[in-house]
Amino acid sequence: MLTLADLDSRHSIPTRQLGAPGPTPEQLLRMLQTAVRVPDHGKREPFRFLRIDGAARGALADAALARLRERAPDSDPAVEDKLRTRFTVPPLTVAVIARLGPDEKIPTVERLVSASCTTLMLLLAAQAEGFGAQLLTGWLAYDRPFLENTLGLTTEEQLIGTVAIGTPQIAVRDRARPDPSDLLRVWQP
Ligand SMILES: Cc1cc2nc3c(=O)[nH]c(=O)nc-3n(C[C@H](O)[C@H](O)[C@H](O)COP(=O)(O)O)c2cc1C
Repeated sequence: MLTLADLDSRHSIPTRQLGAPGPTPEQLLRMLQTAVRVPDHGKREPFRFLRIDGAARGALADAALARLRERAPDSDPAVEDKLRTRFTVPPLTVAVIARLGPDEKIPTVERLVSASCTTLMLLLAAQAEGFGAQLLTGWLAYDRPFLENTLGLTTEEQLIGTVAIGTPQIAVRDRARPDPSDLLRVWQP
């Protein structure tokens, strides 16, 4: 039985603190089996995933750096280093992609909600399997040339973000969480 304490234990591990081993392809598939159990209005399955591991990590880092230099020819070496290590340090990165083609019935925002939910479920599944994880976006999540030419998204797709997954190298102190009593009001007619 999943307890609230289990759910309350979810927290991210900074990507630079995610080391080997990462999930095997089989472990990732198992985690995704959990991740896709999301509310999905109209059963549209408006999401898909890319696995980036092994040598593909360096290749993706190179492509991201090349795109950064096109956008900002005089980019700071520290910014370049952060961009490279984002993909080369964690053993596994999963790109979560929302599939948002024309739909007569289900609004785009509802399909985005479903795809976003898979991201949280993947974070939870990774932690449940003993790994750490973190969701990242940054400029490249909105850079269409990078998304389409490098990651292979169609014009109708949107990157929700990339989820870095690996073995936590440090224990992370939790951050302060919102107090739900500040956020809850009783609606009355
Ligand atoms: C859509 C989205 C994009 C994010 N992008 C980044 C990012 O690019 N870099 C970063 O350091 N944190 C990013 N974060 C925050 C982390 O995923 C994470 O929430 C943060 O490290 C706090 O950890 P927590 O999950 O334990 O609250 C993003 C969060 C969301 C929801």
